[in-house]
Amino acid sequence: MTELARQIVLASRPHGRPAPENFRLETVPMPVPGAGELLLKVRYLSLDPYMRGRMSEAKSYAAPVPVGGVMEGGTVAEVVESRRPDFAPGDLVLSYSGWRSHALSDGTGLVRLDPAEAPVTTALGVLGMPGFTAYAGLKIIGQPKAGETVVVAAASGPVGSAVGQIARIRGARAVGIAGGARKCALLREAFGFDVAVDHRSPTFAADLKAACPDGVDVYFENVGGAVWDAVWPLLNRFARVPVCGLVAQYNATGPAAGPDRLPQLMRDILTRSLTVRGFIQRDFAAAEMPAFREEMGLWVADGRVRYQEDIVAGLEAAPEALIGLLEGRNFGKLIVAVA
Ligand SMILES: NC(=O)c1ccc[n+]([C@@H]2O[C@H](COP(=O)([O-])OP(=O)(O)OC[C@H]3O[C@@H](n4cnc5c(N)ncnc54)[C@H](OP(=O)(O)O)[C@@H]3O)[C@@H](O)[C@H]2O)c1
Repeated sequence: MTELARQIVLASRPHGRPAPENFRLETVPMPVPGAGELLLKVRYLSLDPYMRGRMSEAKSYAAPVPVGGVMEGGTVAEVVESRRPDFAPGDLVLSYSGWRSHALSDGTGLVRLDPAEAPVTTALGVLGMPGFTAYAGLKIIGQPKAGETVVVAAASGPVGSAVGQIARIRGARAVGIAGGARKCALLREAFGFDVAVDHRSPTFAADLKAACPDGVDVYFENVGGAVWDAVWPLLNRFARVPVCGLVAQYNATGPAAGPDRLPQLMRDILTRSLTVRGFIQRDFAAAEMPAFREEMGLWVADGRVRYQEDIVAGLEAAPEALIGLLEGRNFGKLIVAVA
């Protein structure tokens, strides 16, 4: 019997919240490596908020996934067949193979992983792209100083949890925002945030103000929406706002209702000397990746930076898990155990 591979393609573009019908699971013939190629078996697939953007045709920093195309994503994979001298069956690699069980590679961009150094799933989270996003965004734009107050939302996720812990390593006070009591307890108990504030509480804005008696010096923006509305009035003179993500807006179908607040925002940027700067992590990779690998590797190894993973089983679980991620149903770095 011919061996089959599985993949999930974008069946249609979502309008607003993605639905299971926007995805399609397909079985296809097992790919056969040609000269100079490897056959990879995907063990773990990373699910990340940016994938919602790839499902849409709206202009962005990366091209959309075409309808009928395999959903993109970072993966940890095992080499099962090699027609290259530099990789052997059994090698584990970080690859960008997407939502599938098996993939071909010519070796470009693969990063070899050593499970003796760190659990391989960390290459998708705290020691991978999300951890680097936190590290570089905070270092280059946030620049927290000892005694300052750093606020971050989506604080139980891989980016936010790293932001809070790095802020504390730099001597700042870390205030984390998350949805619900369970996530807020995690922020304090596992990640060592000084204060955790629940953005689902009806008293959220007042709770945040009470949590920041000296105002906010760095707001690491992961969310936008109502969380931004609550943080904005608290920003101190010379505050820095690394704009990393706007997950509260990713399923939006049009501009938010209400008055135009842009003039007031521009006035505050001017009169409070605010720095508001967007970034895409890969822009910082050439300059900051070596320092990230060294410092973050050390902090994770000695326990100064901790991480939480939410692992769901089976490739077929990926669509529902991504839909849940955009609504806060994940509890830590969301990963699909594919194999
Ligand atoms: N610029 C870059 O290069 C770059 C790279 C990586 C990631 N990012 C961005 O960084 C952010 C965090 O990514 P991540 O991978 O660490 O994701 P994550 O925290 O694991 O997941 C997203 C979280 O966003 C929160 N959320 C969703 N809707 C919300 C809403 N309406 N209001 C408040 N919070 C909401 C949820 O947490 P709660 O349950 O706590 O609300 C959810 O768990 C995202 O915006 C992502 O796009 C940017």
